[in-house]
Amino acid sequence: MPSASDPVTIVVIGASGDLARKKIFPALFALYAQGFLPPDFRIVGFARSAMDHPTFRTRIMEHLTCRYVPGERCADRMQEFLSRCWYRVGDYGSMDAFLGLYEMIRELEAGPVTNRLFYLAIPPSVFLSTARSIGNAGLVACEASSPWSRVVIEKPFGNDRESSDLLVQELGHVFTEDQTYRIDHYLGKEMIQNLMVLRFANQVFEPLWNRRYIDHVSITWAENLTTEGRGGYFDGFGIIRDVMQNHLLQMLALATMECPADLNPTHVRDAKVQLLKAIEPASIDRAVFGQYGPGQVDGRAFLGYRDDPTVPPVSRTPTYAAVVLHIHNERWKGVPFFLCAGKGLSVRRTEIRIRYKVVKNNPFCRPLNCPSACPPANELVIRVQPDEAVILKVVNKVPGLELTMEPQALDLLYHDTFHQLLIPDAYERLLLDVLQGDRSLFIRRDELAAAWDVFTPLLHAMETQTVEPIHYAFGSDGPPEGLALAEQFGIGPA
Ligand code: BG6
Repeated sequence: MPSASDPVTIVVIGASGDLARKKIFPALFALYAQGFLPPDFRIVGFARSAMDHPTFRTRIMEHLTCRYVPGERCADRMQEFLSRCWYRVGDYGSMDAFLGLYEMIRELEAGPVTNRLFYLAIPPSVFLSTARSIGNAGLVACEASSPWSRVVIEKPFGNDRESSDLLVQELGHVFTEDQTYRIDHYLGKEMIQNLMVLRFANQVFEPLWNRRYIDHVSITWAENLTTEGRGGYFDGFGIIRDVMQNHLLQMLALATMECPADLNPTHVRDAKVQLLKAIEPASIDRAVFGQYGPGQVDGRAFLGYRDDPTVPPVSRTPTYAAVVLHIHNERWKGVPFFLCAGKGLSVRRTEIRIRYKVVKNNPFCRPLNCPSACPPANELVIRVQPDEAVILKVVNKVPGLELTMEPQALDLLYHDTFHQLLIPDAYERLLLDVLQGDRSLFIRRDELAAAWDVFTPLLHAMETQTVEPIHYAFGSDGPPEGLALAEQFGIGPA
């Protein structure tokens, strides 16, 4: 049986794109610098742009960082790493191009047992043709006794439940489910991995983690950027498919699922699937869509979404969405979950806010039994980015002879507590897991289907009813209708 230290060839398809250059190669270098790649490895980039090996290496180098090998050693380590990087030009749908890639890989691979990892960092429109070319060129080993072949694919996995099922089925002709690693990079983020630890390794949270004690939960994802040259891609998908159906729903699942029997990847993913299946599909009467228009930030003017030359000037694609979801199970019946995601907002922030119920019969309510004068409810904030933090807001007596109370924060700020540690990039964690064959943080087929079931009816309704998104200025807090929707369910602003 091949082991994690066996030779490996890592093939990055779409090697000249942003994802590969900014995320995948830097993560591979970080793993190399920390000694996590096997001694015998090579990286082969494949893409449509013509370039020679030295040019490819120079382009990769632009985004490598020395954070794991500071000082003089860094330049040497980079050169060692780059000397293992090769490039091949070709069309994604061309079997001949992949036969050429195969020849090249065979020449580079020295020993008889070389595992192969294929990373498809390519647009969804060429997923299938590329996978078929890889398969037809004989690059994938299918037998259990052979060295492993694994494929990493990036979202979006389809457009809705039906197209996703079809894609899964077609890709399944080339790669088995066990060989397929569907990546959602949020699952590799430090704070997202901490969610299960916080919930299940602490006695203080789990007993109160249910509808008896929790009033509502908000999950916010805000970005203060434009679609930045990705307008062409984004316009075909919109914010729900881009981040809500995957990143936000994964956060919701981890924050609300039942405790798995153990950390076995099957059991963890079973728990998530069970939860996702209990979510009532999002509906249009509990949703708000927005699209950013031009705006000013610190005196600088930003164009609106429709002004992006790669976006149709009449585009109705939402860059903002807010929805209220309900989970139909014993633990969460009646608790509203407010999910809100937007680009072109005033801040970059991803967080989960868990608002507890107010204390019943609170002796500190003044005048007695007047809820408005009661101390505020507790809140637990799990900040995913930037500045990872876990903050529990509690009511505390202000020192003095008067009885004055104030909400205060018990806060775990990563920046202060773990300042001597480097927080790995999500792609480092996930690529290491693929190399080690750990599938816990990757999306299983039934999980993907269940996630699409939550949003497919809403997406179809929105598209058939040609809903016009509400315009909001770039750099603002999004359309006020989003907050109004939250308020309808008793959810106040953060
Ligand atoms: C991607 C989305 O999945 O996540 C992008 O396609 C988004 O639109 C990005 O900008 C955000 O990732 P991160 O790690 O910067 O929060």
